[in-house]
Amino acid sequence: MLNEENYITFACPKCGNSVEYLEDYAGTAQPCPYCGEDIVVANAGGTEGHSLPLPLSTPRLILRRLTPGDLADILEILTDPEVYRYEEGGPLDEAEGKLWLETAVKQKLSDSEGKLSLGIAQQNSDKLIGILGFRYSDRDRRQADFAIQINRSYRSQGFGSEAAVAFLIFCLRDIGLHRVTARCDCSNVASVRLLTKVGMRKEAEYRKDRFVDGEWVNSYRFAMLEEDIPRP
Ligand SMILES: CC(C)(COP(=O)(O)OP(=O)(O)OC[C@H]1O[C@@H](n2cnc3c(N)ncnc32)[C@H](O)[C@@H]1OP(=O)(O)O)[C@@H](O)C(=O)NCCC(=O)NCCS
Repeated sequence: MLNEENYITFACPKCGNSVEYLEDYAGTAQPCPYCGEDIVVANAGGTEGHSLPLPLSTPRLILRRLTPGDLADILEILTDPEVYRYEEGGPLDEAEGKLWLETAVKQKLSDSEGKLSLGIAQQNSDKLIGILGFRYSDRDRRQADFAIQINRSYRSQGFGSEAAVAFLIFCLRDIGLHRVTARCDCSNVASVRLLTKVGMRKEAEYRKDRFVDGEWVNSYRFAMLEEDIPRP
């Protein structure tokens, strides 16, 4: 319901309390002021808010919240130096990986960190073969920077692109982000191909903007806008 001050009023899908948001927040993920859970604000004129529509399903994968039981699979990914080949930091040791997971399990979009991390699990086995997520990149939390890692034993089978497409639709359609970006090392061929294949637009090349393994390297910035997602 939209009242005369352009507020949308609806019942929180988590705690049932009546909540109000400015119309500007229609269709975006916001914290419920009563229970603090992440919810999606009703559309203008609507009366129903939603929980974040997770998990996400694709033909072969489930993208879901991480749980403490994912530790062994997470460590396979985060302790692998190859995953960090084009990054400034990493790999993590076992204690750092455990701490990373403990933090990721508790993430809420309304936290000061403003991060969401999901596990990429196989439909048929629930084996966690990758991680993907975003971090808000603007003050209004309408833009985010996303990244993806796939366990090296499961690469080049289309899992990365399959997961990334579902995640971009979730970001830009389901939780109302305006723009999603991704940065990648110009020599990271797999990442450049994945970001291109999923329909992100290469917007910029930064010269020698990161210091990796003793040298300055170039990065690309890719982006996708909400209007680039085909309407259902
Ligand atoms: C980038 C990454 C996520 C790709 O995952 P993936 O599951 O192998 O991706 P896909 O199988 O969907 O492949 C996507 C495209 O990359 C290509 N590709 C995958 N690995 C490649 C490689 N080592 N060399 C060249 N191309 C490669 C695929 O052929 C495909 O392109 P195509 O369909 O045009 O042939 C994975 O390599 C990875 O985790 N890398 C380390 C972390 C990283 O760099 N993340 C990117 C940060 S945004």
